[in-house]
Amino acid sequence: MQAFDEGKIFLDKISREIKIEPQDWMPEQYRKTLIRQMSQHAHSEIVGMLPEGNWITRAPSLKRKAILIAKVQDEAGHGLYLYSAAETLNITREEMIGQLHAGKAKYSSIFNYPTLTWADIGAIGWLVDGAAIMNQVPLCRCSYGPYARAMIRICKEESFHQRQGFDILFTLSNGTGAQKKMAQDAINRWWWPSIMMFGPNDDASPHTKQSMDWKIKRFTNDELRQKFIDVCAEQVKVLRLTLPDEKLKWNDERKHYDFGDIDWEEFRNVVNGNGPCNKERMDARIRAHKEGEWVREAAAAHAEKIKLRQQKAVA
Ligand code: 3HC
Repeated sequence: MQAFDEGKIFLDKISREIKIEPQDWMPEQYRKTLIRQMSQHAHSEIVGMLPEGNWITRAPSLKRKAILIAKVQDEAGHGLYLYSAAETLNITREEMIGQLHAGKAKYSSIFNYPTLTWADIGAIGWLVDGAAIMNQVPLCRCSYGPYARAMIRICKEESFHQRQGFDILFTLSNGTGAQKKMAQDAINRWWWPSIMMFGPNDDASPHTKQSMDWKIKRFTNDELRQKFIDVCAEQVKVLRLTLPDEKLKWNDERKHYDFGDIDWEEFRNVVNGNGPCNKERMDARIRAHKEGEWVREAAAAHAEKIKLRQQKAVA
């Protein structure tokens, strides 16, 4: 009887757009879905630092280097807010990181591609952060309060990331012939993986329906992918470059761009650990975690010392 009432109250809150908070009753599957999505999201932010971190020492000017360092630090911050938000669902950060390192938790497919030239940093900003914003702005209205609130700040920072990427590509596309070619080559390599970021087509997405009913997701994978393609098809004209899709064409009836077939075989391979950089990324994360052990121990010892000092002062 009590669970029935609680279930009713939960659904009523969802329907009236009242946020679900950590202390509220929630269905076990809602909690599990959020842990899955939020931890995958946090892992993506942290693993996402790696391909860009590769270019900090090679950025072409002091200004570009400072901007890139700030951006990579922002991604670390996003990961930390998201781990903290996920911890409100009764899982520890250690458990989540353990799942990632054991290959039990996923992170975004996109970060398993290599960054071959400086233009890739531009393409990541414009396309990868652009796709992330398209997916994440609606998450500011997610039904779970801590996730929704974390997303507000994250989205503000992602907007800056997207613009800095566009600015890099704009500079290159207005530079020498070789620079323009480098920018086009980066877009050619990052375009298809970027539109795969939105996940499988709706009819192949096992979680979308339930997540939409619970207002965790506000749009389906295909709806967001289409919005993103429509935006990029216009923005690429400002760059005077092209998207590598011969079928990309405005459809006046649909009021959307039509686009070519996505290689879902490639997507499955990358998600299942067989992308170009999966092994390298996981090795780097596990190594960094091991090397950081002494820092975690020192921080814990320091926190304990402060706690004891405060207890003594009160006694
Ligand atoms: N990469 C890896 N796995 C993916 C994926 C992708 N691009 N898209 C979907 N999947 C996985 C899902 O996690 C799910 O696997 P699971 O059942 O084992 O957990 C499976 O494929 C089926 O997909 P669904 O569409 O049914 O799953 P969801 O309803 O969870 O939708 C999602 C997938 C749209 C990515 C959703 O989880 C989401 O919106 N997540 C939050 C945002 C996020 O994680 N973004 C990652 C990028 S963050 C980023 O890019 C950082 C920035 O700084 C650039």
